[in-house]
Amino acid sequence: MNSTTSLREPGADALDSVHLRGLIDERLNAFLDANCDRQPHLVSLIEHLRGFLTAGGKRIRPLLCMVGWHAAGGYGDTGPVIGAAASLELFHAFTLIHDDVMDASDTRRGRPTLHRTLETGADATTAERFGTNSAILLGDLVMVWSDELLYSSGIDHERLVAVRPLLDAMRTEVMIGQYLDLLATGKPNEDVERSLAVIRYKTAKYTVERPLHIGAVLAGADQALLDVFTAYALPIGEAFQLRDDLLGVFGDPSETGKSVLDDLREGKATALMAHALHAAGAEQARMLRSLVGDPDLDEAGAETVRGILRATGAADKVEQMITDRVQRARRVLDETPFPDEVRKTLETFVTTTTLRTT
Ligand code: IPE
Ligand code: IPE
Ligand code: MG
Ligand code: MG
Repeated sequence: MNSTTSLREPGADALDSVHLRGLIDERLNAFLDANCDRQPHLVSLIEHLRGFLTAGGKRIRPLLCMVGWHAAGGYGDTGPVIGAAASLELFHAFTLIHDDVMDASDTRRGRPTLHRTLETGADATTAERFGTNSAILLGDLVMVWSDELLYSSGIDHERLVAVRPLLDAMRTEVMIGQYLDLLATGKPNEDVERSLAVIRYKTAKYTVERPLHIGAVLAGADQALLDVFTAYALPIGEAFQLRDDLLGVFGDPSETGKSVLDDLREGKATALMAHALHAAGAEQARMLRSLVGDPDLDEAGAETVRGILRATGAADKVEQMITDRVQRARRVLDETPFPDEVRKTLETFVTTTTLRTT
């Protein structure tokens, strides 16, 4: 770990999530405003994007980027690193916009998904295609802008060069995860290990590990700190997605802002489903295979599936997997001399991941 860490303890509100959210959103809005001025053809798309960004979102990745920076002894003007943190929220927006196209999801953050919103105004016969194509373009644009926001944030050239391989890795990893997810979707199976590999790539790395790494490298961290972050991030990132998978089936859509039928209709090959198929009797397995992956599955069918997920003990098994991962992440926190504010924030993240309903 950086030997100067103890000399540069972050102030008491440096990692306050409300305070940071304000700074991140301010930076995102200023960036969008500047692009509205520069690119009049894009004003309408930009306002759709702004609506998406302001509709919600927990800002986990920017927050963890700031945690990484402070943990590595970052100090002084936070302006440049706030820009880097905000750029991760744009990267996240890109993954969500494209993910919702790929998953044909109608709802996100309690509102119609962007490919649905963008349909409005188009000719009825082409509306669906127009909405999808516009969302693909907007996603691409947001990915490019995530880079632009980073490079225009005032970070030293040397630090930008140092962080580049991590950005490349983060992007590649998400694409790997999403591709593995596509390959498995519609074919749920008993392979828990494979479902874990998917969530490690599609969620844990870009949500937890890489934001911590990126923030840390922007403050000049050494490899030892990056390794500690990996040991914390992968278990808690997996727990985060395992919770997401439970919420995707058992959650309350008014809290999650997402459909509670999408994962089942798509036939998502989650650890939850793998455990259920493994433990199911012949009749339960037959029911699961006929209901899960049915694009017309209704609420009654979903309730039957939920019953089987409970009766086979699959839901409890996933809760146990979350608990195991939380313990692994806590052990890393116990063993590492982080500055107080960093430790507190990482502990809070563990707790909210375990208990979250949104
Ligand atoms: C949703 O991420 C996608 C996953 C990786 C599970 P978040 O749960 O961070 O989404 P928002 O930004 O809060 O909406
Ligand atoms: C997914 O968000 C975003 C990524 C993991 C890239 P969702 O909450 O829709 O999760 P999936 O589509 O079920 O993985
Ligand atoms: Mg999805
Ligand atoms: Mg998906």
